[in-house]
Amino acid sequence: LKVLSVVSEAYPLVKTGGLGDVAGALPSALAPHGVEVTTFLPGYPSVMKALRDAVVLHSYDSLFGEKAQILSGWAGKLKLIVLDLPGFYDRPGGPYCDASGKDWDDNWRRFGAFSRAAADVAQGKFNMPSFDVLHAHDWQAAMAPAYLHYDGAHVPSIMTVHNIAFAGWFPNDIFVWLGLPWHAYSMHGVEYYGGVGFLKAGLFCADAITTVSPTYAEEIGDAHFGMGLEGLVRARRDRVYGIVNGIDTEVWNPAEDPHLLAQYERLTLNRRLQNRLQVEKAFDLDGGTGPIFCVVSRLTTQKGMDVLAGMAENIVTMGGRLALIGTGEHYIENAFMDAAKRFKGRIGVKIGYDEELSHLLQGGSDAILVPSRFEPCGLTQLYGLRYGCVPIAAHTGGLADTIIDANEAALSAGVATGFLFDEVNHDTLSRVLSHAIYRYQDRPTWKALQEQGMRMDFSWRRSGQRYAELYRRFAKKNAPELA
Ligand code: ADP
Ligand code: GLC
Repeated sequence: LKVLSVVSEAYPLVKTGGLGDVAGALPSALAPHGVEVTTFLPGYPSVMKALRDAVVLHSYDSLFGEKAQILSGWAGKLKLIVLDLPGFYDRPGGPYCDASGKDWDDNWRRFGAFSRAAADVAQGKFNMPSFDVLHAHDWQAAMAPAYLHYDGAHVPSIMTVHNIAFAGWFPNDIFVWLGLPWHAYSMHGVEYYGGVGFLKAGLFCADAITTVSPTYAEEIGDAHFGMGLEGLVRARRDRVYGIVNGIDTEVWNPAEDPHLLAQYERLTLNRRLQNRLQVEKAFDLDGGTGPIFCVVSRLTTQKGMDVLAGMAENIVTMGGRLALIGTGEHYIENAFMDAAKRFKGRIGVKIGYDEELSHLLQGGSDAILVPSRFEPCGLTQLYGLRYGCVPIAAHTGGLADTIIDANEAALSAGVATGFLFDEVNHDTLSRVLSHAIYRYQDRPTWKALQEQGMRMDFSWRRSGQRYAELYRRFAKKNAPELA
């Protein structure tokens, strides 16, 4: 079975968050199930640089008004098809924003063209056979199922929602440039709150919808989480599937992680101590007997980082320390930097993105904080579990699905793996941190928590199989009738 995974980032070529990790891991996750995944990416500079054995499949004279090429090739383990359109993708800054963090004004063209080209490729319009399934990820790829739908194509599509908060909404005057039939601009089409909604279009047109955890699949049918799309999600309920993300166990393996000073496994947990010293050094922390909490996160309100930034004093008074790496909203970045100044030696903050440090924090801190207001899946808690870095997280989305709270019953049954709390506010966070510190002082209990987390299997084994089943089910359904 051949699947075209249409996605705007894929580790290690381009990554701004969990989407990149998941897209980068899907091909190897699906291969054991007889599914060959080709990843369709925009031709960002890092992608063009990594592309090997490139072959031109097609040249467009005008795709959204631009000359463009479709290339196929390889980058490491990833089989790629790339939309080479330098005017759109060869820019400094990130995949969606300029260097100052402002969204590119022409994102609707950049990702409209991307989706159009993906739908063309999936249908086999160029020098290659069609794909059995098109799998679109998030709003950047979400117009691809819509193009397939309005083309009347036989290729089934699956739309995965990694985060429903990013809607890909644009004013209605872009509609004429999308090359869709007029009737597509309606509530039963791509129209969304008076404009064009890329994610809405994908959710409406795809044959199936998945999201990255079962709890989030439930949540997005609710107005509190659905961001205005809850009605559509509910209407399509029988086509919505929650499949929890796996992790790439080669990239995230404490026994072989090259970014750690000391590699370790469940039975050699004491070796973590060396990494802990390294964390203290890297984040200018004084020594101490209390736990080192860490954060590896976008610094946004989704992640509850505004609340956490106001907790520095509590953490320090309770005897904890904090090591944080992240970027995001400037007021939150500033609040953390202020905290680091006020509590020198107790709070260490690095504003920025650093893959290597993210591994060190997982391999050397005692606990990872994930106080998200909503979390479709979350990967950092999964890395934490695998690394014996106990997650302390809000009871929502994928966090609720992957962590077993250390209440008395779960502790005595030996099944607890972390700490969960309900409302994301100062009081609950304060309570859960003090509970965690209390448990931390009881060394055997803490070690049991770490070990139990490390026993969990969050590899792609199960979820890979679920995607494969879904692909097969829809590929069969849409196969043209045999004459
Ligand atoms: P989201 O995709 O919503 O940001 P996830 O938990 O799914 O959240 O994935 C975040 C990914 O990005 C993880 O791989 C995490 O380690 C990584 N990450 C986030 N912030 C940073 C950072 N500042 N430096 C390095 N890695 C980061
Ligand atoms: C999104 C979500 C995150 C999820 C990731 C990968 O970025 O915010 O929860 O883990 O996608 O699916």
